Amino acid sequence: MNKIISREELAPNIKKLILEAPFVADKVQPGQFVVIVVDEKGERIPLTVVDKDKKQGTITLIFQEVGKTTCRLGQLKATEEIHSLLGPLGKATEIKRVGKVITVGGGVGIAEVYPVTHAFKEAGNKVTSIIGVRNKDLLFLEQELRKVSDELLVATDDGSYGHRGNVCDVLKEIFPFAKADLVYAVGPVVMMQAICELTRPSGTKTLVSLNPIMVDATGMCASCRVSIKGEMKFGCVDGPEFDAHEVDFDQLAKRLKLFSKQEKKAMECCKDR
Ligand code: FES
Repeated sequence: MNKIISREELAPNIKKLILEAPFVADKVQPGQFVVIVVDEKGERIPLTVVDKDKKQGTITLIFQEVGKTTCRLGQLKATEEIHSLLGPLGKATEIKRVGKVITVGGGVGIAEVYPVTHAFKEAGNKVTSIIGVRNKDLLFLEQELRKVSDELLVATDDGSYGHRGNVCDVLKEIFPFAKADLVYAVGPVVMMQAICELTRPSGTKTLVSLNPIMVDATGMCASCRVSIKGEMKFGCVDGPEFDAHEVDFDQLAKRLKLFSKQEKKAMECCKDR
């Protein structure tokens, strides 16, 4: 059992939880995730560890209520406990000094980009972060990311804050001059694919986290199966990060479509509660 220390709504349907998890807080590295089971009959969900406090023995999770389980998790209050928590899991991001790094987070992917951005900055890189949401009300972690970036660029689809457009539009504008040594992106698959195509001509090393396609992180459900350079890999076992230029994004997009119908149904159950 892991106690919830605090719960906060960062934006509509985006929740932040601080949880008691001393072992994970001590061991977790940027890019890694935990698997949570909310209650006895609940399903497993993988969530990236956004932050940690070794002294307090706590970790921070940020998630979007997109299905039955995340919806249930979002309803829990401080002092309540979750049934179980497993981790840290997944390969950690290889953090080293490479020079200029651009991190890109779209939607709830902003949460996943935060620990990696922080770590690249601490390693002595010059970091530009680009984050994007549909409108200003959906923005979160802006100040936190500003603190750990040399430059932060914000995009909103409707132009209500920052640049009008999406993160790819912003990257397109700065990329020819940015001379990045590494681009790191997390967000919807279409976004990661677009970024991958943007950086491909220059051969700029580009990493994507396939956390968004994981379902239960068991290595058995196969929902995170992905073709990397023609070889089958599992996001939850072999990743979650991969070289974007080696990922078969078309196949990935098809797989996601399969699950969206089931999630819609699950959300309806959640509303009926
Ligand atoms: S998420 Fe189920 S096998 Fe990877």
